[in-house]
Amino acid sequence: MALWNGRFRKPLHPRALRFSSSLHVDRRLFREDIAGSIAHVRMLAQQKIIPSGDATKIQRALRQIEREIAAGKLSFDIQKKNGRFVAEDIHMAIEERLIANVGSIGGKLHTARSRNDQIALDERLYLRKAIDAILKALRRLQRAYIIKAERYKSVIVPGYTHLQRAQPILLAHHLLAYVSMLERDHERFCDCMKRVNRSPLGAGALAGSSFAIDRAAVARSLKFDGIIENSIDAVSDRDVQIEFLGACAITMMHLSRFAEELVLWSTDEWNFAEIGDAFTTGSSIMPQKKNPDMAELVRGKTGRVYGDLVSLLTVMKGLPLAYNRDMQEDKEPLFDAADTLKECLDVFTAMMKTVKFDRERFEGESDFLLATDLADYLVRKGMPFRKAHATVGAVVSDCIEQGISIPELPLKIYRKHSKLFSSNLWKIFHLRASIYQKKSAGSTSPKEVEKALLRWKKRIRRA
Ligand code: ARG
Repeated sequence: MALWNGRFRKPLHPRALRFSSSLHVDRRLFREDIAGSIAHVRMLAQQKIIPSGDATKIQRALRQIEREIAAGKLSFDIQKKNGRFVAEDIHMAIEERLIANVGSIGGKLHTARSRNDQIALDERLYLRKAIDAILKALRRLQRAYIIKAERYKSVIVPGYTHLQRAQPILLAHHLLAYVSMLERDHERFCDCMKRVNRSPLGAGALAGSSFAIDRAAVARSLKFDGIIENSIDAVSDRDVQIEFLGACAITMMHLSRFAEELVLWSTDEWNFAEIGDAFTTGSSIMPQKKNPDMAELVRGKTGRVYGDLVSLLTVMKGLPLAYNRDMQEDKEPLFDAADTLKECLDVFTAMMKTVKFDRERFEGESDFLLATDLADYLVRKGMPFRKAHATVGAVVSDCIEQGISIPELPLKIYRKHSKLFSSNLWKIFHLRASIYQKKSAGSTSPKEVEKALLRWKKRIRRA
């Protein structure tokens, strides 16, 4: 019989219990659950709702149960050997164990509490830890990018739009774009933490408690910034879980974009990046292959994390207040996203450290990467930009027709297009010249990139 079985004539059908039990999923919340129970029982004693001797016994037993679970000594089979069905979730499993250990006084723990505020609390305690771990992992990945940017500071590569060569950029500038993206991810998780760190405990099932509990004291003892005011909101709300999943999804999206770039850059066609052997795999049939599987898996797992977000959003859609059992379905996406993101961040960081870039790969290449610089050249000599754009367009078209690149077109032909072209034109025909020409804040000019690098190094060192 379950602990709530008083009003029932029949126990839960085994199939119904199996179907509805979340123990296999929420058992990983045992530490959070016990921490919450200890804080709760202490407050009950302080408020003289239960005798302090009972509270002490309960606390001691809870600590003992925590040790047993941690040591793998407590089996969580939902069907006991004697055929009795027990524990539909971690809360019940621990409470049943408590009562088995200390007798009926164990039954006092659940005074002024419901599993509805209990699970909301456990998840917030869990999220605090998960966010902390993710914040640290994000910093480590940022550091890995910064180290690469520093090492390849002078390397120039084509920048792309539409995956078509656009303008020359510094590789470091490209890598630092990811550092900025990860910084926003970091901010998002910090921001989410502000709302996570409020205690729902004491909301009871939905209406609060008729005992003189001290919600604020429990919140303080569990290091929350405060309580969730409205008791109905406290047990109905899964916003922080959804926000967390949203932040995970966005971070994964960022990782997937670099994963894709690594995949492209490692192809023979691109031949620009090489991921270390330890993070690539061979083919079971083609001996020449070195596949970027880790990058591909990170790209693939992004889909899973999006799924987790959409899954919980969908579970919550249209749910009437307050608690509904549907909400039990929040844990799998939550744990899956947290685990997946943390693992992806860690693998990504380790893989990033092994990536080598070919410094010479784009050396001396110009094709049409300098067309914008050519237009700017005319503008500097007084031509309106729109006209300069059209003029250079015609130059490019000439080059394509003749199968040559911009620097190969004779000055004579240039001057047919515009008399503003003169012999100092050749000065701009270097990728490096283009980079040094950039003057705007946040641009790819070596000066700006150096400034950004310094700023990031300071910022991340402090973090
Ligand atoms: N296992 C439940 C969950 O995760 C705990 C809350 C159950 N509450 C209830 N009224 N059945 O949502």
